[in-house]
Amino acid sequence: MSATVRVTFDPPGLSVEVPPGTTILEAAWAAGVNVLATCAGRGTCGNCAVRLLEGDPGRIRKAPRAAELPQGMYLACLVEVETAITVQVLNFVRLS
Ligand code: FES
Repeated sequence: MSATVRVTFDPPGLSVEVPPGTTILEAAWAAGVNVLATCAGRGTCGNCAVRLLEGDPGRIRKAPRAAELPQGMYLACLVEVETAITVQVLNFVRLS
């Protein structure tokens, strides 16, 4: 296993290198991508959903909302990345 893995967010076209085991949500915050995360990563709001565009999802933590997502979509706060992935962010926080 490599020391870091690349997580790419498209949109907005930003990437970050993170240690394996980092959640997609944590990687987004590290990359400066403001994913909407109303429950702060507890896996209950469903707002942090992302679509996996490339790569394997990695280890998925258990949570009640995980089973409700369409195929290819994941809650960013519940996926621990293990290899390079690219995800599409569906809900951004608009900063003004
Ligand atoms: S931040 Fe609420 S489900 Fe992921």
